[in-house]
Amino acid sequence: MAVIHADVERVMLTREQIEERVKVVAAQLDKLYEGRRPVVICILKGSVVFFSDLIRNMQTPLTIDFMAVSSYGNGTKSTGELTIKKDLATDIKGRDVLIVEDIIDSGNTLYNLKKLLNSRLPNSINIVTLLDKPERREVPIEPEYTCFVIEDEFVIGYGLDYAEEYRNLPYVGVLKRSVYEK
Ligand code: IMP
Ligand code: MG
Repeated sequence: MAVIHADVERVMLTREQIEERVKVVAAQLDKLYEGRRPVVICILKGSVVFFSDLIRNMQTPLTIDFMAVSSYGNGTKSTGELTIKKDLATDIKGRDVLIVEDIIDSGNTLYNLKKLLNSRLPNSINIVTLLDKPERREVPIEPEYTCFVIEDEFVIGYGLDYAEEYRNLPYVGVLKRSVYEK
C-alpha cells in the first residue's frame, strides 16, 4: 500500500484494484477490435496515466494520438462550447476511434468531443473511461466501457488533478474538503 498523501481524505481505489480492472477492460477492448487497428486517443492531461496502462495491456495492433480539449468557458461551469487546445495529428476518416477519458462528470466534454470527431467521418467511435459519476450527468452520453462507477465526490490521483496537482498519486483518492474550501 502506498503512503497516503496528507490532502487525501480516503483512498477510493487502490493501485492494485485499478491494475486488476484495467487488465479486464483491456482484454474486452482486444476482443472488440479483433482484426482491426484502432486509433486510441488520450484526452490530455487527466487520461495520461490510465491511457499508458491501458494500451500496454492491449495486444491489438493500434496507433495512438493525443488531444487536449475543454468544455469550460470563462467560469467553472460546463458549457456547450468545446475549446480545442491541441488537435489530433491523425486523419481519423474511416478509422476505428477509441477515446480514452479519465472521468465523465456532466458529460459536456465528451458529448461535444464525440460530435466533433463524428464530423470527421470515422468508421466507429467508442469511449472508455476510468471513472464515471452518472449522478452528475447533464447531457445524454454513455461510455461503452467504464472501469469504475463512483459516487459524487471530488477525486484526485492516477492522472486526475485539483489545480494541476496530485496527478502522480498511484491511487484514486477523495480530496479533503479543507484543501478546496480554504
Ligand atoms: P465534464 O464535461 O463535466 O464531464 O467534465 C469532465 C472533466 O472534468 C474531466 O475530464 C476532469 O478533468 C474534470 N473532473 C470532473 N470531476 C472530477 C473529479 O472528481 N476530479 C478531478 N477532475 C474532475
Ligand atoms: Mg480532464
